[in-house]
Amino acid sequence: MIPDQWYAVLDSRSLAGKPIGIERLGELLVVWRTDSGEAVVHRDRCVHKGARLSLGRVRDGCIECPYHGLRFDPSGACRLVPFLGSEHEVSPDWKVEAYPTREAFGLVWVWYGDAEPADELPWFDALGAGVGRTWQTHSVWPYHYTRLMDSNFDVYHFPFVHRSVNPGLGPVVVEHEVRDLGDRIDTRVTLDADGVDRRGGRARKTFVMNVRLPNLLYFEMSRRLWLLAIMTPVDEDRTWVFARYYANLPFGRLVASLVGRFEYRIVQNQDRRILDTLPKGPVQQGEYAYGEVDTGSILWFQKRDELRMPGQS
Ligand code: FES
Ligand SMILES: [Fe+2]
Repeated sequence: MIPDQWYAVLDSRSLAGKPIGIERLGELLVVWRTDSGEAVVHRDRCVHKGARLSLGRVRDGCIECPYHGLRFDPSGACRLVPFLGSEHEVSPDWKVEAYPTREAFGLVWVWYGDAEPADELPWFDALGAGVGRTWQTHSVWPYHYTRLMDSNFDVYHFPFVHRSVNPGLGPVVVEHEVRDLGDRIDTRVTLDADGVDRRGGRARKTFVMNVRLPNLLYFEMSRRLWLLAIMTPVDEDRTWVFARYYANLPFGRLVASLVGRFEYRIVQNQDRRILDTLPKGPVQQGEYAYGEVDTGSILWFQKRDELRMPGQS
């Protein structure tokens, strides 16, 4: 994991009155809302005997542990120990870890790292802040996030893995443009048929895939259809994948829902059939036989290596 970054951990729509327990960033987290609607994220372990706070409830602006009723405020400080009575002073040591949390773009974000949280959340300006004309879904995939980040840059699997939705698409990378924008890597890749068959038409197509550190992908499915995908690590073997489809068209919400359902169920399943067969765990240095068409992936791994802590994946 790349430290000192904001990570999207939950779809805002999933979070209503009840606390939710999730696994992200190698931790058990509980996400809950205060009475004023503010999202709060704590480590999902009570400091008393270790029960999962996510099984508790929200009371008086605090999350209440389901086991003996200890109450923790949004800062993580314990405000009440019922078995000692409300007059009793609470030890300041009884504190659950509270993560810096933000809510924006329809997502709950957590700051992972010891540095001061950055002002800006990672995002693509082109998407805007609204979520009208979109459809979204999310699930936990059984692959390390590095395998997914690599596949974001890999366009030349389309003529094979996604042959059914790209009939006639050529296999040769004829144009390959990678732009290093610091915290962003923009790529534009054109595929075409091989040799004498290179004559445009269905065989030739250009794909735009932009990646924002640490883990966001913007994929232009067409000029008005975009996919935002976020791949947040769960642990060494799993990744939370959030996908939102944008359709800047009349009846955009309906179009986004139709395209999204199709893409997520059909196209993404074609990927998963292959990803299931790859080695488990993080991509190791030198494991993939990268070549000149993999500059995007190589750059992302370089940036990750510069930013991550030694020994972390
Ligand atoms: S374990 Fe949480 S109150 Fe006892
Ligand atoms: Fe794919």
